[in-house]
Amino acid sequence: MKTDIQADYWSILSQNSIDGVRLDNLAEEYSTPLYVYSENKIAENIDFYKNYPSHPTVNYAVKANGNLSLLAMMAERNLGFDIVSEGELRRVLQAAGSDYAKKCVFSGVGKTNQEIRFALENDIGCFNVESRGELQRISQIAAQLNVAAPIALRVNPDIDAKTHPYISTGMRDNKFGVAITDAMEIYRQAARDKNLQIIGVACHIGSQITELAPFVAALRSVKILADELNRNGIVVKHLDIGGGLGVENPDEREVPTIRQYLDALYAELSGSDYQLALEPGRSLVANSALLLTRVVGIKRQSGKTFLVVDAAMNDFVRVAMYQAKVDIRNLSRADYGICDEEVDVVGPVCESGDTFIKAMKLQAKVGDLLAISGAGAYGISMSSQYNARRRAAEVLLADGATRLIRKRDEYAQLWENEINL
Ligand code: LLP
Repeated sequence: MKTDIQADYWSILSQNSIDGVRLDNLAEEYSTPLYVYSENKIAENIDFYKNYPSHPTVNYAVKANGNLSLLAMMAERNLGFDIVSEGELRRVLQAAGSDYAKKCVFSGVGKTNQEIRFALENDIGCFNVESRGELQRISQIAAQLNVAAPIALRVNPDIDAKTHPYISTGMRDNKFGVAITDAMEIYRQAARDKNLQIIGVACHIGSQITELAPFVAALRSVKILADELNRNGIVVKHLDIGGGLGVENPDEREVPTIRQYLDALYAELSGSDYQLALEPGRSLVANSALLLTRVVGIKRQSGKTFLVVDAAMNDFVRVAMYQAKVDIRNLSRADYGICDEEVDVVGPVCESGDTFIKAMKLQAKVGDLLAISGAGAYGISMSSQYNARRRAAEVLLADGATRLIRKRDEYAQLWENEINL
């Protein structure tokens, strides 16, 4: 495993500070575990997409991190959103304004009638439809509301994205989308339905994808279908290729940049005038944050050393769930604690899966402050209160200013919805 402090996921860290704010002071003030985000880094990532000459439509995937302040900052920069539930749509409306649904696409394999109705009532920009049955339900609800529902069919191009099986979504045996071979017929049916308005074709093949070829292959399939639709008088303009661009991590240092990704997609589209839409989540926020945690104890047994820290799998589940790789630095040491002794960095939760890293060469003593890399995406948004642990606080830093964007849970919140009979 490389431990290069120049890695992209450490690029926000400079002299134990992010954007000029010292992390030890933050840990002192807000306690740990604590998520710390760099607004500048998120803005930089957004700019890579927004300033690309061909101007793709960028709909941020809220699931990666739905904090209201982050959504508001994205809306200020004119991003749309990819949502997958009524809850996510409500988050967007809360953060970006009650008329923002029109800049949202509604993805997700299990939209309920209630969710479809709520989205239509709020003037949703597009449903990325997952099945014939869903299309029928959308049409019926649109008829009740006397509107035409904007739709794109999410097609499953049967492409191996070569990522972790849990986050691979574009293969025939995954639960997502309609088989691309069935799409023409379903579009024909939709085109005859006055309660449906066809916008485009959608697709999403997976997440943390680190090769360009699967994206290009997916776009090619989608474009072939769109060309055929247009030839048959079914006008589609938008090709939504989903999200999925991976980020650098200690195991995968050769990851395409956003620029290379867009170059590859637009090369495939050259000569056509489709509007490309994207749903990036991870590539906008993952490398913008660190998770701060303190060493609670050090255990030596059976020839091993365990650094027990105060962050756990309930705060950041990606290692336990997808065997994701993170990197760790000891912020309490000038050399970041890089040494020859190998330790396992583990959380306090009562499962051996609650491990952040195994056999890392890291030196630390009790009370030291550690930083866990790449915590901006699927960190807080997948966190839970397991083991009756309070969810962590989040702070957003920009140009030396610190803003608390989520308070740590209060203990009473752990049981506030429970009924003590
Ligand atoms: N669009 C759709 C329809 C999606 O299902 C997803 C992610 C995205 C966009 C955004 O993908 P991204 O650009 O973030 O890769 N919890 C997992 C990742 C699950 C991704 C699910 N879908 C993890 O922590 O790796």
